[in-house]
Amino acid sequence: MRTTLIAGNWKMNGSLQSVIELVEAIKAGDVNNAQLAVCPPAIYLMKVGGMLEGSRIALGAQNVCDQESGAFTGEIAASMLKECGCQYAIVGHSERRALYQETDELVARRFAMALSSGITPILCIGESLDERESGDTEVVVSRQLDAVIESQGISAIAQCVIAYEPVWAIGTGKVATPEQAQAVHQYLRDKLASLDALVAEQVQILYGGSMNASNAGELLSQPDIDGGLIGGASLKAADFIAIGQSV
Ligand code: PGA
Repeated sequence: MRTTLIAGNWKMNGSLQSVIELVEAIKAGDVNNAQLAVCPPAIYLMKVGGMLEGSRIALGAQNVCDQESGAFTGEIAASMLKECGCQYAIVGHSERRALYQETDELVARRFAMALSSGITPILCIGESLDERESGDTEVVVSRQLDAVIESQGISAIAQCVIAYEPVWAIGTGKVATPEQAQAVHQYLRDKLASLDALVAEQVQILYGGSMNASNAGELLSQPDIDGGLIGGASLKAADFIAIGQSV
């Protein structure tokens, strides 16, 4: 039986003060049927990690370096994230792929680094609007997933979380319908099952893209949707908690 993960991706938003207030408010929320996680900007990880100590809420990073240590200006090592208390690290978010030219191969290396430090990667995959309209959704998500499977093996998928995030739904208010999302989630699970049935059954596959308090319930009731990666709606404690409570 897969549990539900509701993870907030705060992206590059907030200030020290607003982050503190958001964490306090989320901690006060009453969410019993889902694991919550928050992914603040890296500069606040240490602070938020301290605030979450002793709570049930997990900490995640928004990215992780593909190298262990050394001359990689601006990057953050998995071991450092671990020291801050990170349990999760997002890798391959579409904003990283599109705006910072992260390739499937680089994402796979970042994924490997997270795993080697005992951090669960949240591997983001998803098609653009053009790709969907040309009928290439399955080809694209397969390619993105295969880059990790080919370099890390199918057993690595058992240790990660997958987030299906159609690019056209991210930050646009244009959410995938529960049927559209379920179809891709099921496709992904079937694809994994052809390699390893147990891994396919166990891995959590989250949906991301304009999920909010009013559409979460229906999305999360789909059989292959095991949680959400929430952007905009995770910046308001009440909305984030409501999504957690809709599970
Ligand atoms: P959104 O972002 O919920 O604001 O669409 C989701 C994400 O980018 O992970």
